[in-house]
Amino acid sequence: DWSMENFIEEEIKKIREQVGDRHVLCALSGGVDSSVVAVLIHKAIGDQLTCMFIDHGLLRKGEAESVMETFTQGFNMNVVKIDASERFLTKLKGVTDPEQKRKIIGNEFIYVFDEESAKLKDKKMDFLAQGTLYTDIIESGTDTAQTIKSHHNVGGLPEDMAFELIEPLNALFKDEVRALGTELGIPDEIVWRQPFPGPGLGIRVLGEITDEKLKIVRESDAILREEIKKAGLDREIWQYFTALPNMRSVGVMGDTRTYDYTVGIRAVTSIDGMTSDWARIPWDVLEIISTRIVNEVEHVNRIVYDITSKPPSTIEWE
Ligand code: XMP
Repeated sequence: DWSMENFIEEEIKKIREQVGDRHVLCALSGGVDSSVVAVLIHKAIGDQLTCMFIDHGLLRKGEAESVMETFTQGFNMNVVKIDASERFLTKLKGVTDPEQKRKIIGNEFIYVFDEESAKLKDKKMDFLAQGTLYTDIIESGTDTAQTIKSHHNVGGLPEDMAFELIEPLNALFKDEVRALGTELGIPDEIVWRQPFPGPGLGIRVLGEITDEKLKIVRESDAILREEIKKAGLDREIWQYFTALPNMRSVGVMGDTRTYDYTVGIRAVTSIDGMTSDWARIPWDVLEIISTRIVNEVEHVNRIVYDITSKPPSTIEWE
């Protein structure tokens, strides 16, 4: 009969049989799916697994550090961290169209992944592990790491870049993956992590991405997350983040007129991200968030709260 322990035991057996003494590469994003896959496979084959974590420079505050710490120290896994920020930001310079930005980020991710995995010459990677869920087979728009799959399935790759796929989650739904993650000892912070789009903060800085704007979004988002958690709302709100519209407005600080950025707060409740309602965050909490962002983040003098549902809006602003 079906139980989580049986599932884990059986998957481990299957993975060991499939892999033998060969090696597996896994693109780790720090999201629930890729984390659970990585830990499960590590449990099965240990050091025959190599994970690659690509920092595209569009991650949230503290994210890269926390992912590295969790998996290298917490799970003693072999994780190669690739700092590709400069490369991504250079490619994105001057680009304002959201879909263009997405395309550039997605493509660059694949180029970096291919280049860096080709460098792992001491071990030939025969397998690519992916956190494909049952629902991903019908849906799109999950993890950037996921795009590797479609890419590598297209063919046309040099022979030594071809991978066999391992997708141990492809019969599971999200709630089952979370339960599995908990059973595997993955911290709640990851198991219950809110969805985060592959293009990351790149689609939360509206229009052109600059260092200054990225910093505003990153810092304001960190404050928002901290306060939502403090208020105990982090499980009931599906997604919450800040976005930086491409606008400045007049304000006053002390005796001086300011002309600075507006930060938008987006927080929604949802079942699956397909539709959503704006979250009724208590006003007191919103007030703390607003005051903190304006006081602590340079070049912000106004905060707005997004009160549209999806449809007609979308969850992200780009
Ligand atoms: P929207 O904004 O379309 O978002 O209401 C629905 C869900 O999808 C996420 N999202 C993305 N995820 N790449 C991703 O991996 C993307 O380009 C992308 N755009 C939106 C969004 O965060 C929400 O959870």
